Amino acid sequence: MFVSENLTVNENGHLAAGGIDTVELAEKYGTPLYVMDEQVVRNTLRRFKDSIDKFYGGKGEVHYASKAFSCMEMCRIVNSEGVGLDAVSIGELYTAVKAGFDVSKIGFHGNNKTNEELEYAVSVGVGHIIVDNISELMRLEKIAAEKGVKPAIMFRIKPGIDAHTHNFVKTGQIDSKFGFALETGEAFDAVKQAISCENVELMGLHCHIGSQIFDIAPFEEAARVMLGFIADIKNKLGFEIKGLNLGGGFGIKYLQKDDPSPFETYMERVSKVVKSECERLSIAQPFIFIEPGRSVAAPAGITLYTVGARKEIPNIRTYISVDGGMADSPRYILYGSEYEAVVANKASQDKSETVTIAGKCCESGDLIGENMPLQHAESGDIIAVCATGAYNYSMSSNYNRLQKPAVVFINNGQSRIAVKRETLDDIIRNDV
Ligand code: LLP
Repeated sequence: MFVSENLTVNENGHLAAGGIDTVELAEKYGTPLYVMDEQVVRNTLRRFKDSIDKFYGGKGEVHYASKAFSCMEMCRIVNSEGVGLDAVSIGELYTAVKAGFDVSKIGFHGNNKTNEELEYAVSVGVGHIIVDNISELMRLEKIAAEKGVKPAIMFRIKPGIDAHTHNFVKTGQIDSKFGFALETGEAFDAVKQAISCENVELMGLHCHIGSQIFDIAPFEEAARVMLGFIADIKNKLGFEIKGLNLGGGFGIKYLQKDDPSPFETYMERVSKVVKSECERLSIAQPFIFIEPGRSVAAPAGITLYTVGARKEIPNIRTYISVDGGMADSPRYILYGSEYEAVVANKASQDKSETVTIAGKCCESGDLIGENMPLQHAESGDIIAVCATGAYNYSMSSNYNRLQKPAVVFINNGQSRIAVKRETLDDIIRNDV
């Protein structure tokens, strides 16, 4: 009935998430409110892990891409599932470290890491660092030498795959700021250079072709290209690459019409390609990493708002204005991303209207969405926007000096605050 499987309608006709009445959550914690279902996060992580076991003999690791949604509680949950982490900044890394994350399972990313970030990553002892460019390699080599350590590294490679997704979230093609290009020989030269470095150990290669990808074929193609490169390195340089990170990017269901393949199908098909290519190329099967972000966090989340104004403009449109907007939900204004919405206190009613849900920020593009089917909404109603767990809280801002909403986790019929709502004093805390 809803895009996310944990959503139902309860006996009061209210929307329930994980069996909890969302109208009660809105009353208890206020709105806007991010609600994350812990069980959905855990189940998804287990499915990822199980499918690596089933289709690739367990020779792999899941690293949750924390850019999708990061806070200390999320890190604790991911860590307790024995899953690793992709941290893309010192802030994400610090959050994980402070949450007690097993640092040996953290891959540290970033296309323009600062020395401060590299030094911090080395000093806390992250599992490996995914190096993006030669300047970074040289700086890391120096930092490692100074500290007397030999960090494991991977190289971020652009496999030259054009995934069918929004331009802003494509990352695997040659015209990309991320990583080393294969076609130009840049990646091969970088590998040669890394092998000659004394203070880093090249343990793997990494690629990530984009995000919200529904098609499995580009993932298979990326695996083929990367394995071809691994064979090339073995044949020409006599060096064995042991790890291969195939990135994240698995599409999720935002709208009823979306029909993403189950992750198990991805893993089955990609594992088959990896095994057969390794045999064909006479190379050892690499240890595989995958880095899902959106697919773990998005389906676990909803955002709750309270309706304020309702404006009917005859023959044009009806605006339903809510107490949040682009500051907590920036994906419509950024990518035109569409969501399913429900009036949480009228969830059993038909969606009798088509409306524009607008935010409270001072610009016309501040919309949660247009042409959204919705129950008749009036001032005081609670609106739930579904599948918002990824890239909303993590990309939220204080635009118009709005306070960032709280994050509440739900589990087993209970709710708890994971991130407090910002106060007005938080808004001015760094002002001098
Ligand atoms: N690994 C790397 C290196 C990445 O760059 C990303 C996402 C991921 C893993 C996780 O991809 P996912 O499984 O979440 O698709 N803000 C955009 C999405 C940006 C994705 C950036 N990189 C959005 O809201 O759609």
